[in-house]
Amino acid sequence: MKKIIIAIDGHSACGKSTLAKKLAKEMKYVYIDSGAMYRAVTLFAIQNNWVSDDGQSVDENELINALDSINISFNYNSKSGKSDTFLNGVNIEDEIRTMKVAKSVSAVAKLKKVREKLVEFQQSLGKNKGIVMDGRDIGTVVFPNADLKIWVTANMEVRTARRYKELIEMGDKITVDEVRANIQSRDFEDSNRKESPLKRADDAKDIDNSYLTKEQTVQSAMDLINAKILEN
Ligand code: CDP
Repeated sequence: MKKIIIAIDGHSACGKSTLAKKLAKEMKYVYIDSGAMYRAVTLFAIQNNWVSDDGQSVDENELINALDSINISFNYNSKSGKSDTFLNGVNIEDEIRTMKVAKSVSAVAKLKKVREKLVEFQQSLGKNKGIVMDGRDIGTVVFPNADLKIWVTANMEVRTARRYKELIEMGDKITVDEVRANIQSRDFEDSNRKESPLKRADDAKDIDNSYLTKEQTVQSAMDLINAKILEN
């Protein structure tokens, strides 16, 4: 069967990654979390003390000069059954999910050179198709010719509650208000930046999963995939 590229975009914590992972499993495709790459570069900047305490600004010159020394990779973890993110050979999967990284990531993700490096890497991973990638600009910039583009949405309270639960389970000490504020601020920053802002592709199909179970969300997306494959 012909392999396709599936691009999944949407606002922060809308369930893109959960959906993308499940679709990849179902299709036996590769799953790539582009957000993990921006989070990894952000962690690198934090480790080097190039990010301000409030996470709003980053020493752009230092980070850009060091970009070539940042190597990001993904490795399957047989224990968790998921793929872990590595920064220069070190497993950083848990660290990049913390609120500390979430607070600074939009300031790093708006930098043109950072985006150029990561988009090139993302495109190289999609050259054989058979891939599900999620992010903010996958259907608009990374794979504008993706066979299927899905725009995922969920309302703010649902998104906040889901992310709060995830962070608490990981041991992050945060409040619901902090989580909501971070989601709102990232949505604003990601949608209003100059370089590849978060935007629904005109030809995307919408899935609002506010009141859908994970299984129902996957089923809606599988219906779209099957329709697309039959069309080809
Ligand atoms: O999981 P969540 O929705 O919280 O975010 P993520 O997908 O891990 O992405 C983290 C951040 O990376 C976003 O808030 C964006 O600033 C940035 N990002 C981006 O600019 N472009 C992408 N393709 C993916 C993520």
